[in-house]
Amino acid sequence: MNIQALLNDKVSQALEAAGAPANSPAAVRQSAKAQFGDYQANGVMGVAKKLGTNPREFAQKVIDVLDLGGIASKVEIAGPGFINIFLCSKWLSVQTDAAMSDARLGLKLEKQQNIVVDYSAPNVAKEMHVGHLRSTIIGDSVVRTLEYLGHNVISANHIGDWGTQFGMLIANLERVQQEQGEVSMELSDLEAFYRESKKMYDADEEFAARARSYVVKLQGGDEYCAKMWKKLVDVTMVQNQINYDRLNVSLTQDHVMGESKYNSMLQDIVDDLKEKGLAVESDGAQVVYLDEYKNKDGDPMGVIVQKRDGGFLYTTTDIACAKYRFEDLKADRVLYFIDSRQHQHLMQAWSIVRKAGYVPEEVTLEHHAFGMMLGKDGRPFKTRAGGTVRLADLLDEAQERATALIESKNKDLTADEKAHIATTVAMAAVKYADLSKHRTTDYIFDWDNMLAFEGNTAPYMQYAYTRVVSIFSKANISEADLTGSICIENDKEKVLAAKLLQFEEAVHSVAREGQPHLMCSYLFELAGNFSSFYEACPILSAEEATKQSRLKLALLTAKTIKQGLDLLGIETLERM
Ligand code: ARG
Repeated sequence: MNIQALLNDKVSQALEAAGAPANSPAAVRQSAKAQFGDYQANGVMGVAKKLGTNPREFAQKVIDVLDLGGIASKVEIAGPGFINIFLCSKWLSVQTDAAMSDARLGLKLEKQQNIVVDYSAPNVAKEMHVGHLRSTIIGDSVVRTLEYLGHNVISANHIGDWGTQFGMLIANLERVQQEQGEVSMELSDLEAFYRESKKMYDADEEFAARARSYVVKLQGGDEYCAKMWKKLVDVTMVQNQINYDRLNVSLTQDHVMGESKYNSMLQDIVDDLKEKGLAVESDGAQVVYLDEYKNKDGDPMGVIVQKRDGGFLYTTTDIACAKYRFEDLKADRVLYFIDSRQHQHLMQAWSIVRKAGYVPEEVTLEHHAFGMMLGKDGRPFKTRAGGTVRLADLLDEAQERATALIESKNKDLTADEKAHIATTVAMAAVKYADLSKHRTTDYIFDWDNMLAFEGNTAPYMQYAYTRVVSIFSKANISEADLTGSICIENDKEKVLAAKLLQFEEAVHSVAREGQPHLMCSYLFELAGNFSSFYEACPILSAEEATKQSRLKLALLTAKTIKQGLDLLGIETLERM
């Protein structure tokens, strides 16, 4: 049940009936304070201004024709012309009851779209760093949400698997193989391998010459170089897969659509851009000048799409990639979860894409940027020695800390149970700490905060869930035993019921804005509303009809928390 959409429709109709121009926005929102009702419509003021009438008088006209029979118990005008809507308990009872008996919690499927989501995108022969962690888990959560709404989601892992660095990497892999025999998938320290390759390239002229010749050969399709290249990609992705699996992220090898995939399109694109008069030669390179970007002299900025030596760039690849996503993948929408520092790069690539007519305007290309992960000192998150933090090490540390925490809290669980709880809490803590922050801001990575049982954290939410299910396990009641129907009687029940029904709005907002923190905030509020309800409304000791009703509300709460956490990629525990 999407209450906001329902009320928005009703108020829109009333606006029109009261004389507003067609399609005037009703602007229905959840109210910030209980005294303003459950929802408020803010559109009246704008319309009244357009019509040149008194907003409060116009609001009265709207209310006179507004038909919320059965839905609202009270509708009133407030302030300069807000319309406050108070939902009716009876209606809330019927709706929560319906949600309770529906496997999808009453949530309707959206009209299906093809949506491409570009996320994770680590680089070959490099470790995944914390920036890739952010992209991976935020992207994964949005993918889950879009799929839940019924969309056809194509996960695209745009790995950095192409570029001149492969010359030195192949030359170094060759050297290592000559010394140690066949390299297995355990080339564990990729970062060190990369650094070593670079060092040899800088220090050893013969090595560097070989590396350069391998770049040319690789680009020319040489079989040996292609095989070595593939090995580097595979070794990297096998290791990344371990991280994905630990993080409960659904990416697999099947989702890899790296930069190299677009190689065969690049020359044609540059030729086409030339033909369209968009790319022009400058110093032997092919450049597109964009009026909307000025260089420091105030002239249109030039974006190079092909270098003088014939090589292509990251931008050229992203132009091809957007074209491919529209033409071949038939995307209606493309979401990119990439570090905010790449914003200009994307804007330039897409500006060229639009000018060349590769992707029509109605297909959205969306950069869902995110900020940096910072250390406690407020500076970019690094190891003590100042190096990049390996994702695998970060997850190991989470595991250790969660193990100690669970050990100290639950003396009476078996070792297996404790291990399972610790792993689940550890991964959840790392993910939730990230997902619960507004995506675009930098945030401070703090172990103590993320593992706390108070506040908007994973342990708090997971515990909130176990607490609700324990009501059932302790009383030995299961869903099948529930009879009767939900009957909202007091305020705490009412607040909880309205919040439960707002799950659908939370799901939609994440799908629309690509901001999983909206789901975290929703769940945190829901858990708070449940606590207040639980304190004020005895369940098991209530008389039978009330007991059944409250048990149903509790069960719907548990189901909603579980489903919401699942959309965030976070697992729940029946005991902890
Ligand atoms: N591999 C890039 C990086 O590590 C991210 C790629 C993002 N996707 C894209 N279509 N450019 O920064």
